[in-house]
Amino acid sequence: MNLLEGKKVAETIKEELKLKVDKIKNTSHRTPHLKAVLVGNNGASLTYVNNKITACKKVGIRSTLTQFESDITENSLLEEIKKINEDNDIDGYIVQLPLPKHIDEQKVINEISPQKDVDGFHPSNFGKMALGMPTFIPATPLGIIELLDRYKIDTSSKQCVVLGRSHIVGRPISILMSQKGKNSTVTVAHSKTTNLQELTKQADIIISALGIPEFIKDDMVKEGVVVIDVGITRVTDKTKLKGYSLKGDVDFEAVSKKASYITPVPGGVGPMTIVMLLYNTIRAWELNQKSNA
Ligand code: GUN
Repeated sequence: MNLLEGKKVAETIKEELKLKVDKIKNTSHRTPHLKAVLVGNNGASLTYVNNKITACKKVGIRSTLTQFESDITENSLLEEIKKINEDNDIDGYIVQLPLPKHIDEQKVINEISPQKDVDGFHPSNFGKMALGMPTFIPATPLGIIELLDRYKIDTSSKQCVVLGRSHIVGRPISILMSQKGKNSTVTVAHSKTTNLQELTKQADIIISALGIPEFIKDDMVKEGVVVIDVGITRVTDKTKLKGYSLKGDVDFEAVSKKASYITPVPGGVGPMTIVMLLYNTIRAWELNQKSNA
Protein backbone atom coordinates (compact mmCIF):
# COMPACT_ATOMS: atom_id res chain seq x y z
CA MET A 1 0.00 0.00 0.00
CA ASN A 2 1.20 3.49 -0.88
CA LEU A 3 -0.09 6.52 0.97
CA LEU A 4 -1.27 9.42 -1.17
CA GLU A 5 0.22 12.09 1.04
CA GLY A 6 -1.87 15.12 0.22
CA LYS A 7 -0.33 17.07 3.04
CA LYS A 8 3.19 16.64 1.66
CA VAL A 9 2.17 17.33 -1.94
CA ALA A 10 0.25 20.42 -0.83
CA GLU A 11 3.38 21.74 0.93
CA THR A 12 5.37 21.33 -2.31
CA ILE A 13 2.67 23.14 -4.32
CA LYS A 14 2.57 25.92 -1.71
CA GLU A 15 6.31 26.45 -2.23
CA GLU A 16 5.72 26.63 -5.99
CA LEU A 17 2.89 29.12 -5.52
CA LYS A 18 4.95 31.20 -3.12
CA LEU A 19 7.62 31.65 -5.80
CA LYS A 20 4.88 32.83 -8.16
CA VAL A 21 3.46 35.27 -5.59
CA ASP A 22 6.96 36.59 -4.78
CA LYS A 23 7.43 37.33 -8.48
CA ILE A 24 4.04 39.09 -8.62
CA LYS A 25 5.02 41.22 -5.62
CA ASN A 26 8.26 42.25 -7.34
CA THR A 27 6.56 43.29 -10.53
CA SER A 28 3.13 44.57 -9.48
CA HIS A 29 1.84 47.00 -6.89
CA ARG A 30 -1.07 44.67 -6.06
CA THR A 31 -0.84 41.37 -4.18
CA PRO A 32 -3.47 38.67 -4.95
CA HIS A 33 -6.35 39.03 -2.49
CA LEU A 34 -8.77 36.28 -1.43
CA LYS A 35 -11.85 37.02 0.65
CA ALA A 36 -13.71 34.38 2.62
CA VAL A 37 -17.34 35.02 3.54
CA LEU A 38 -18.62 33.07 6.52
CA VAL A 39 -22.20 33.13 7.74
CA GLY A 40 -22.90 31.93 11.29
CA ASN A 41 -20.54 29.97 13.49
CA ASN A 42 -20.54 26.37 12.30
CA GLY A 43 -17.44 24.89 13.97
CA ALA A 44 -16.23 22.87 10.98
CA SER A 45 -16.75 25.79 8.58
CA LEU A 46 -14.81 28.10 10.89
CA THR A 47 -11.92 25.62 10.96
CA TYR A 48 -11.92 25.24 7.16
CA VAL A 49 -11.96 29.00 6.63
CA ASN A 50 -9.17 29.54 9.18
CA ASN A 51 -7.09 26.86 7.44
CA LYS A 52 -7.61 28.64 4.12
CA ILE A 53 -6.52 31.97 5.62
CA THR A 54 -3.44 30.45 7.25
CA ALA A 55 -2.45 28.86 3.93
CA CYS A 56 -2.82 32.24 2.17
CA LYS A 57 -0.40 33.78 4.66
CA LYS A 58 2.12 31.02 3.97
CA VAL A 59 2.29 31.76 0.25
CA GLY A 60 1.97 35.54 0.63
CA ILE A 61 -1.59 35.92 -0.65
CA ARG A 62 -3.59 38.65 1.08
CA SER A 63 -6.69 37.28 2.77
CA THR A 64 -9.63 38.84 4.53
CA LEU A 65 -12.54 37.27 6.36
CA THR A 66 -16.01 38.78 6.41
CA GLN A 67 -18.35 37.23 8.93
CA PHE A 68 -22.10 37.65 9.19
CA GLU A 69 -24.50 36.59 11.92
CA SER A 70 -26.42 33.38 11.19
CA ASP A 71 -29.69 35.37 11.05
CA ILE A 72 -28.60 37.67 8.21
CA THR A 73 -31.42 37.80 5.66
CA GLU A 74 -30.97 36.34 2.21
CA ASN A 75 -31.47 39.80 0.68
CA SER A 76 -28.84 41.43 2.89
CA LEU A 77 -26.35 38.70 2.03
CA LEU A 78 -27.07 39.15 -1.69
CA GLU A 79 -26.45 42.90 -1.29
CA GLU A 80 -23.11 42.21 0.43
CA ILE A 81 -22.15 39.84 -2.39
CA LYS A 82 -22.85 42.58 -4.93
CA LYS A 83 -20.52 44.93 -3.04
CA ILE A 84 -17.73 42.34 -3.08
CA ASN A 85 -18.23 41.84 -6.83
CA GLU A 86 -17.68 45.55 -7.37
CA ASP A 87 -14.61 45.82 -5.15
CA ASN A 88 -11.62 45.84 -7.54
CA ASP A 89 -9.27 45.17 -4.66
CA ILE A 90 -10.67 41.63 -4.24
CA ASP A 91 -9.46 39.16 -6.86
CA GLY A 92 -11.40 36.14 -5.72
CA TYR A 93 -13.74 35.11 -2.94
CA ILE A 94 -15.57 32.16 -1.52
CA VAL A 95 -18.82 31.93 0.39
CA GLN A 96 -18.24 29.04 2.77
CA LEU A 97 -20.98 26.41 2.56
CA PRO A 98 -23.28 25.25 4.03
CA LEU A 99 -25.32 28.41 4.59
CA PRO A 100 -28.11 28.61 7.18
CA LYS A 101 -31.34 26.90 6.08
CA HIS A 102 -33.26 30.14 5.44
CA ILE A 103 -30.80 31.16 2.70
CA ASP A 104 -31.03 29.67 -0.78
CA GLU A 105 -27.44 28.62 -1.52
CA GLN A 106 -27.91 28.49 -5.27
CA LYS A 107 -29.32 32.01 -5.29
CA VAL A 108 -26.19 33.24 -3.49
CA ILE A 109 -23.85 31.31 -5.81
CA ASN A 110 -25.65 32.74 -8.85
CA GLU A 111 -24.85 36.24 -7.58
CA ILE A 112 -21.08 35.65 -7.33
CA SER A 113 -19.20 37.27 -10.20
CA PRO A 114 -17.88 34.36 -12.32
CA GLN A 115 -14.53 36.20 -12.64
CA LYS A 116 -14.12 36.11 -8.87
CA ASP A 117 -15.66 32.68 -8.28
CA VAL A 118 -12.51 30.86 -7.17
CA ASP A 119 -14.66 27.97 -5.91
CA GLY A 120 -15.88 27.38 -9.48
CA PHE A 121 -19.46 26.99 -8.23
CA HIS A 122 -21.20 29.58 -10.46
CA PRO A 123 -23.31 27.90 -13.19
CA SER A 124 -21.26 29.62 -15.88
CA ASN A 125 -17.98 28.26 -14.49
CA PHE A 126 -19.45 24.84 -13.75
CA GLY A 127 -20.78 24.70 -17.32
CA LYS A 128 -17.38 25.64 -18.75
CA MET A 129 -15.77 22.95 -16.60
CA ALA A 130 -18.24 20.37 -17.95
CA LEU A 131 -17.41 21.47 -21.50
CA GLY A 132 -13.67 21.24 -20.87
CA MET A 133 -13.22 25.00 -21.34
CA PRO A 134 -10.68 27.00 -19.29
CA THR A 135 -12.28 28.15 -16.03
CA PHE A 136 -12.05 27.89 -12.25
CA ILE A 137 -12.39 24.23 -11.31
CA PRO A 138 -13.77 23.52 -7.80
CA ALA A 139 -10.84 23.09 -5.43
CA THR A 140 -11.57 19.61 -4.07
CA PRO A 141 -11.95 17.90 -7.46
CA LEU A 142 -8.97 19.86 -8.79
CA GLY A 143 -6.95 18.75 -5.76
CA ILE A 144 -7.86 15.10 -6.40
CA ILE A 145 -6.79 15.35 -10.05
CA GLU A 146 -3.54 17.04 -9.03
CA LEU A 147 -2.84 14.34 -6.42
CA LEU A 148 -3.42 11.55 -8.96
CA ASP A 149 -1.15 13.37 -11.44
CA ARG A 150 1.67 13.97 -8.99
CA TYR A 151 1.70 10.27 -8.04
CA LYS A 152 1.50 9.40 -11.77
CA ILE A 153 -1.51 7.15 -11.23
CA ASP A 154 -2.78 5.76 -14.51
CA THR A 155 -6.49 6.46 -14.77
CA SER A 156 -6.95 5.76 -18.47
CA SER A 157 -9.54 3.06 -19.29
CA LYS A 158 -9.95 2.36 -15.55
CA GLN A 159 -13.27 1.79 -13.85
CA CYS A 160 -13.84 4.72 -11.48
CA VAL A 161 -16.71 4.68 -9.00
CA VAL A 162 -17.63 8.03 -7.44
CA LEU A 163 -19.74 7.87 -4.28
CA GLY A 164 -21.88 10.97 -3.87
CA ARG A 165 -23.28 13.46 -6.38
CA SER A 166 -22.82 16.79 -4.58
CA HIS A 167 -22.17 19.92 -6.60
CA ILE A 168 -18.94 20.49 -4.67
CA VAL A 169 -17.26 17.11 -5.13
CA GLY A 170 -19.11 14.08 -6.54
CA ARG A 171 -20.65 15.65 -9.64
CA PRO A 172 -17.59 17.66 -10.76
CA ILE A 173 -15.04 14.90 -10.09
CA SER A 174 -17.20 12.43 -12.04
CA ILE A 175 -17.10 14.81 -15.02
CA LEU A 176 -13.36 15.45 -14.76
CA MET A 177 -12.46 11.77 -14.44
CA SER A 178 -14.41 10.91 -17.60
CA GLN A 179 -12.92 13.73 -19.68
CA LYS A 180 -10.05 13.41 -22.16
CA GLY A 181 -6.87 13.39 -20.12
CA LYS A 182 -8.16 11.22 -17.28
CA ASN A 183 -10.13 8.87 -19.58
CA SER A 184 -11.75 6.79 -16.82
CA THR A 185 -15.07 5.02 -17.22
CA VAL A 186 -17.09 6.60 -14.45
CA THR A 187 -20.05 5.38 -12.42
CA VAL A 188 -21.74 7.79 -10.00
CA ALA A 189 -23.33 6.04 -7.02
CA HIS A 190 -25.62 7.86 -4.60
CA SER A 191 -28.22 7.33 -1.89
CA LYS A 192 -30.66 5.65 -4.31
CA THR A 193 -28.08 3.23 -5.73
CA THR A 194 -29.08 -0.36 -4.92
CA ASN A 195 -26.09 -2.49 -6.01
CA LEU A 196 -23.35 -0.45 -4.37
CA GLN A 197 -21.09 -3.31 -3.29
CA GLU A 198 -21.25 -4.85 -6.76
CA LEU A 199 -20.03 -1.53 -8.19
CA THR A 200 -17.30 -0.80 -5.66
CA LYS A 201 -15.92 -4.36 -5.91
CA GLN A 202 -15.31 -3.86 -9.62
CA ALA A 203 -13.77 -0.40 -9.23
CA ASP A 204 -10.11 0.28 -10.04
CA ILE A 205 -10.51 3.73 -8.48
CA ILE A 206 -12.97 4.70 -5.73
CA ILE A 207 -13.58 8.36 -4.93
CA SER A 208 -15.82 8.66 -1.91
CA ALA A 209 -17.53 11.89 -0.88
CA LEU A 210 -20.40 10.66 1.28
CA GLY A 211 -19.63 11.99 4.74
CA ILE A 212 -20.50 8.65 6.36
CA PRO A 213 -17.65 7.63 8.68
CA GLU A 214 -15.95 4.31 7.82
CA PHE A 215 -18.72 3.31 5.41
CA ILE A 216 -16.40 1.53 2.95
CA LYS A 217 -15.19 -1.79 4.35
CA ASP A 218 -12.57 -4.16 2.95
CA ASP A 219 -15.18 -6.59 1.59
CA MET A 220 -16.45 -3.80 -0.69
CA VAL A 221 -13.19 -3.31 -2.60
CA LYS A 222 -10.89 -5.36 -4.77
CA GLU A 223 -7.19 -6.00 -4.34
CA GLY A 224 -5.06 -3.14 -5.77
CA VAL A 225 -7.82 -0.50 -5.71
CA VAL A 226 -6.90 3.21 -5.61
CA VAL A 227 -8.92 4.92 -2.88
CA ILE A 228 -9.54 8.64 -2.61
CA ASP A 229 -11.35 9.45 0.63
CA VAL A 230 -12.97 12.89 0.60
CA GLY A 231 -15.08 12.29 3.71
CA ILE A 232 -14.09 14.13 6.86
CA THR A 233 -16.64 13.77 9.64
CA ARG A 234 -16.31 14.82 13.25
CA VAL A 235 -16.98 11.79 15.45
CA THR A 236 -17.30 12.15 19.23
CA ASP A 237 -14.09 10.97 20.88
CA LYS A 238 -13.67 11.65 24.60
CA THR A 239 -9.99 10.65 24.47
CA LYS A 240 -9.29 13.72 22.31
CA LEU A 241 -8.75 17.20 23.72
CA LYS A 242 -11.23 18.67 21.25
CA GLY A 243 -13.81 15.99 22.09
CA TYR A 244 -13.92 14.59 18.57
CA SER A 245 -11.76 12.86 15.99
CA LEU A 246 -11.93 13.12 12.22
CA LYS A 247 -13.08 10.08 10.27
CA GLY A 248 -13.09 9.44 6.56
CA ASP A 249 -15.67 7.49 4.54
CA VAL A 250 -13.25 4.57 4.40
CA ASP A 251 -12.34 2.03 7.08
CA PHE A 252 -8.67 2.89 6.58
CA GLU A 253 -7.24 0.14 8.80
CA ALA A 254 -8.92 -2.65 6.81
CA VAL A 255 -9.12 -1.15 3.30
CA SER A 256 -5.48 0.01 3.24
CA LYS A 257 -4.42 -3.65 3.37
CA LYS A 258 -5.99 -4.22 -0.05
CA ALA A 259 -5.39 -0.83 -1.67
CA SER A 260 -2.47 -0.01 -3.97
CA TYR A 261 -2.86 3.70 -3.12
CA ILE A 262 -5.00 5.35 -0.47
CA THR A 263 -5.43 8.85 0.98
CA PRO A 264 -5.31 9.23 4.77
CA VAL A 265 -7.88 11.29 6.70
CA PRO A 266 -6.82 13.82 7.78
CA GLY A 267 -3.81 14.72 5.60
CA GLY A 268 -5.09 13.48 2.25
CA VAL A 269 -7.59 15.41 0.15
CA GLY A 270 -8.16 18.26 2.66
CA PRO A 271 -4.78 19.99 2.27
CA MET A 272 -5.03 19.58 -1.53
CA THR A 273 -8.38 21.42 -1.51
CA ILE A 274 -6.85 24.37 0.29
CA VAL A 275 -3.82 24.65 -1.97
CA MET A 276 -5.93 24.48 -5.14
CA LEU A 277 -8.02 27.36 -3.81
CA LEU A 278 -4.80 29.36 -3.59
CA TYR A 279 -3.95 28.31 -7.13
CA ASN A 280 -7.36 29.54 -8.32
CA THR A 281 -6.86 32.82 -6.45
CA ILE A 282 -3.63 33.52 -8.31
CA ARG A 283 -5.47 32.79 -11.57
CA ALA A 284 -8.19 35.24 -10.51
CA TRP A 285 -5.50 37.87 -9.88
CA GLU A 286 -4.18 37.28 -13.40
CA LEU A 287 -7.71 37.69 -14.83
CA ASN A 288 -8.22 40.86 -12.78
CA GLN A 289 -4.94 42.30 -14.11
CA LYS A 290 -6.07 41.66 -17.68
CA SER A 291 -9.55 43.13 -17.19
CA ASN A 292 -8.09 46.30 -15.59
CA ALA A 293 -5.36 46.72 -18.22
N1 GUN B 1 -17.93 23.63 2.05
C1 GUN B 1 -17.30 22.44 1.92
N2 GUN B 1 -16.38 22.49 0.94
C2 GUN B 1 -16.40 23.74 0.45
C3 GUN B 1 -15.66 24.40 -0.57
O1 GUN B 1 -14.79 23.83 -1.25
N3 GUN B 1 -15.99 25.71 -0.77
C4 GUN B 1 -16.95 26.35 -0.06
N4 GUN B 1 -17.20 27.63 -0.35
N5 GUN B 1 -17.66 25.76 0.89
C5 GUN B 1 -17.38 24.46 1.14
